[in-house]
Amino acid sequence: MNQLPPPQQMFQFVTGYWVTQLMGTAARLGLADRLESGPLAVTDLATKVGANPEALFRVMRACTAVGVFAEQPGRTFANTALSQTLRAAVPGSMRDFAIAQSSAGHWRPWERLEDAVKTGQRTTVPALGREIFEWYGNHPEEAAAFSGAMHDLAAQVSAELTHLVDFSSATKVVDVGGANGTLVSAVLRAFPQARGVLFELPHVLETAKKALAAAGVAERCELVGGDFFQAVPRGDVMVLKQILHDWNDAQCVTLLKNCAASLPVGGRVLVVEMVVSEDGTPSPAHLMDVNMLVMLPGKERTATEYAKLFAGAGLKAGRVLPTHSPFTIVEAIKAG
Ligand SMILES: C[S@@+](CC[C@H](N)C(=O)[O-])C[C@H]1O[C@@H](n2cnc3c(N)ncnc32)[C@H](O)[C@@H]1O
Repeated sequence: MNQLPPPQQMFQFVTGYWVTQLMGTAARLGLADRLESGPLAVTDLATKVGANPEALFRVMRACTAVGVFAEQPGRTFANTALSQTLRAAVPGSMRDFAIAQSSAGHWRPWERLEDAVKTGQRTTVPALGREIFEWYGNHPEEAAAFSGAMHDLAAQVSAELTHLVDFSSATKVVDVGGANGTLVSAVLRAFPQARGVLFELPHVLETAKKALAAAGVAERCELVGGDFFQAVPRGDVMVLKQILHDWNDAQCVTLLKNCAASLPVGGRVLVVEMVVSEDGTPSPAHLMDVNMLVMLPGKERTATEYAKLFAGAGLKAGRVLPTHSPFTIVEAIKAG
């Protein structure tokens, strides 16, 4: 529990966006990567990242105040366990997530949360002039950061997915809207008999191709571009991580019906989401739900609500598997 007096605690909440932009800036400048081989005087760090030394000192000191980076004598800074998560391509990296959340695609719609509360409608279109996935289609650098951000979150659950779910009889695993394909890559590495399909919007595929190659699974994973509201490639397991939460119930049923149509009898859909507890116990799902309110027509749901969506698509609800991450795996089966 936060032990600060309420006004000071509220100060922290209200200035949360200062911290968001500090983390985004530290991530974009690659500050933690520059400190990888040891502490650096801020003047040296500023030269390496092309920053104003005095301004960078103030930013580093503010990051230190929230536990990210440590200050040493002589205006020298070092990494901490927390700042390590701002490094690129390391286990536990949250660098792309920091960049994506502090960039226009999320930042501008969130500025209009009050409108979303009043209207019940997402604010992406008024704030960005278009839907979020169209925005990413027109902003390749931000889209790559978003796919990277999705990887940062997927990496928190990928190992448990392959331990909790037996893929040993799977022949083709489809990562539906899989971004960089973090989950299908984990399955393919753990289950050498399986092949994969990464199904995504066409603008995502170039970044995804590099990610699959880096994961060492490019030869076993086909890249397919398309629209999951039209059709989904055939396979015997469909993985949908943070897909259904983007869409309203009718859209989810359409998408699940498309999955069902491409599955054999006995095939499975694995929904990976921040599931809302049935009794309302607070969890990260409640914050993610407001992100959905602002960004998309979707919402976070309880396991019972997912079961209703499955029934609407003619699928049978299966196991609900909590993990040590914020994500739960909710299974559906295509019955005979
Ligand atoms: C919230 S992200 C989840 C990414 C990934 N499943 C993960 O969690 O790591 C939603 C993904 O759905 C993809 N997407 C959105 N609309 C789509 C559509 N109509 N057809 C296929 N993919 C779509 C987006 O490009 C994006 O990568």
